Amino acid sequence: MKILVTGGAGYIGSHAVVELYQAGYQPVIVDNFSNSEESALAGIEAIIGAKVPTYRIDCADNAALRTVFQTEEKIDGVIHFAAYKAVGESVQKPLAYFQNNVGSLLTLLEVMTEFEVTNLVFSSSCTVYGIPDALPVTEATPSKPASSPYGRTKQMCEDVVHDVSAAPTNKLHTILLRYFNPIGAHNSAKIGELPLGVPNNLVPYITQTAAGIREQLTINGGDYDTPDGTNIRDYIHVVDLAKAHVVAVQRLLDRKASEVVETFNVGTGHGNSVLEVVQAFEQASGLKLNYHIGPRRAGDVPAIYADATKAEQVLGFKTETSLLDSLASAWKWQQTLHKNG
Ligand code: UFG
Repeated sequence: MKILVTGGAGYIGSHAVVELYQAGYQPVIVDNFSNSEESALAGIEAIIGAKVPTYRIDCADNAALRTVFQTEEKIDGVIHFAAYKAVGESVQKPLAYFQNNVGSLLTLLEVMTEFEVTNLVFSSSCTVYGIPDALPVTEATPSKPASSPYGRTKQMCEDVVHDVSAAPTNKLHTILLRYFNPIGAHNSAKIGELPLGVPNNLVPYITQTAAGIREQLTINGGDYDTPDGTNIRDYIHVVDLAKAHVVAVQRLLDRKASEVVETFNVGTGHGNSVLEVVQAFEQASGLKLNYHIGPRRAGDVPAIYADATKAEQVLGFKTETSLLDSLASAWKWQQTLHKNG
């Protein structure tokens, strides 16, 4: 079965490509390398021992995307990762986020409809919940206004998928996976997160600080209404998250879904504060981290973590990696990067 993976050279995408291949699928990568690097392809190849067909195109480019669908002839399903993903940056550059994240989905759906490809796994995010009234969030928790343009693009994309699927002539079947916070790297340390420039996300900032690339981690706010005053998130190991995609794709191909659009939280079901992550990293690495508490970051939700019951009951999916092991894999990856310059 051939699965097109947009953003397949990116952080989650590259791990999903590996898991798909190892589960017996034929992944095909589409990536414009705007926020990913060619070296991810070499990493994938080193792990699986094969080259994955790769198209260097922007999936918001209709003509280019059509060429991929034509060349590949029969695509059984698509996993759409390609998107901008930094909450803070989206507050600074909202138009770029709407254009890229919503625009690429619209183009992809047009081309999928034309080529009669009916299976889609869409990368959604826990940011669609906004600031929830109660924790943990279940898939039925009502979405509040998003706290950032990034979150709003994910809400809009979910709406687009629902409307397109509801159209009488459309045969689209979609699984929306609402990711919590992916961290860590493949155990081989051949692929992992490759932030371009100064990292926006917590864990790469931590590992770069520990490696001496950044001087000090700034914790974005210590005055939230949480037990230690710092934000709470649900940190899921990226390989666990990648495996959720394999299960979702299989469910679509088997036509097991109970509705044309199904939604699943993909998290561990546990919340950890930023300070807890810092402490766990210190334990995993045996190092002391240089950090201080700074001001709040615009667009941040104070606390969110998943109720992961539906994914477990319906998909049979459960995370396997602890926070400590996830952070250890992130540190191993950082050290490998450092050694290779
Ligand atoms: N943080 C810091 N200092 C930093 C970076 C982050 O304190 O230098 C804090 C943030 O304020 C937040 C937590 O660490 O409280 C996690 O922040 P991230 O930027 O790593 O991730 P977000 O919670 O902003 O996650 C969002 C979405 C996810 C999505 C992720 C991808 O909620 O769905 O962005 O970037 F996967």
